[in-house]
Amino acid sequence: MAELAVDKHVKYILAVEKNKDSFESVVMDHLRMNGAYWGLTALDLLGKLDSVNVDEVISWILKCQHESGGFSGNIGHDPHILYTLSAVQVLALFNKLDVLDIDKVATYITGLQNEDGSFSGDMWGEVDTRFSYIAICCLSILCCLGKINVEKAVSYILSCKNLDGGFGCTPGGESHAGQIFCCVGALALTGSLHYVDKDLLGWWLCERQVKSGGLNGRPEKLPDVCYSWWVLSSLIMIDRVHWIDKEKLVKFILDCQDVENGGISDRPDDAVDVYHTYFGVAGLSLLNYPGLKAIDPAYALPVDVVNRIFFSG
Ligand code: FPP
Ligand code: ZN
Repeated sequence: MAELAVDKHVKYILAVEKNKDSFESVVMDHLRMNGAYWGLTALDLLGKLDSVNVDEVISWILKCQHESGGFSGNIGHDPHILYTLSAVQVLALFNKLDVLDIDKVATYITGLQNEDGSFSGDMWGEVDTRFSYIAICCLSILCCLGKINVEKAVSYILSCKNLDGGFGCTPGGESHAGQIFCCVGALALTGSLHYVDKDLLGWWLCERQVKSGGLNGRPEKLPDVCYSWWVLSSLIMIDRVHWIDKEKLVKFILDCQDVENGGISDRPDDAVDVYHTYFGVAGLSLLNYPGLKAIDPAYALPVDVVNRIFFSG
């Protein structure tokens, strides 16, 4: 079986960040904060976070913060909860949460909770269980979960649960592995996993594995490396990861590498990007691939970073 091309992937991630004129950098300009989280977390899992200039990254992140406390995807764009979590996660990676006015960030997120317990993504109001997860994850990292109505947040998430055991983005929405990660992650972080029918959901999730060993996000869809993360992390949180064939999944992810120029694609022979490179590496980390740092399935951050937040002040 092919091996993980660690040095090539490190080079690829660093090059995307540096080459601001590349196609990938241009199309990602408005969501650069997410890109920073994907690229830098991948580098950390690969043991190479020390190859970036910390001060440069921190000063750019702070320039993306708005008066409301929220962060935007890049300088001069509007704030959104999606970028706010990425900013907080990157600061946590570098052990720099202390540069934040924590109350200000927490106030931004708290202000996005609606009467029914759901969360909007920004001032325009779109509601989605992705935003429930993001709010809960972010506030948990900042040790501010008590500032929202957790009971209502949990009850909204449970209202998005379907008869097949999965979860959708709003009540009645089709089950989708990405939304399942968000709902199971939010339930895990609030100590509410007892509301999940683990066997039923575990069955739906392990049925996502197709012949090639890859995982898809919904029935009848093609396998995609990023679902290695959304499905596997959910299976781990509900203690059913032994229901999939791990070896075949490792092979599928490794088959999606560009072994010459680095990077991982959604499926074999497609073009690589930072998003799939991160989720490929993160998936391999969940599968205990040798040489990678371990990642926490609920916080989507390296385990040592999570331990540092909660156990060493
Ligand atoms: C599918 O993406 C994935 C989701 C819907 C989940 C997204 C979750 C977040 C943004 C929360 C933050 C996540 C982390 C890891 C910290 P897609 O729209 O690309 O799926 P598709 O290509 O299959 O339609
Ligand atoms: Zn994908």
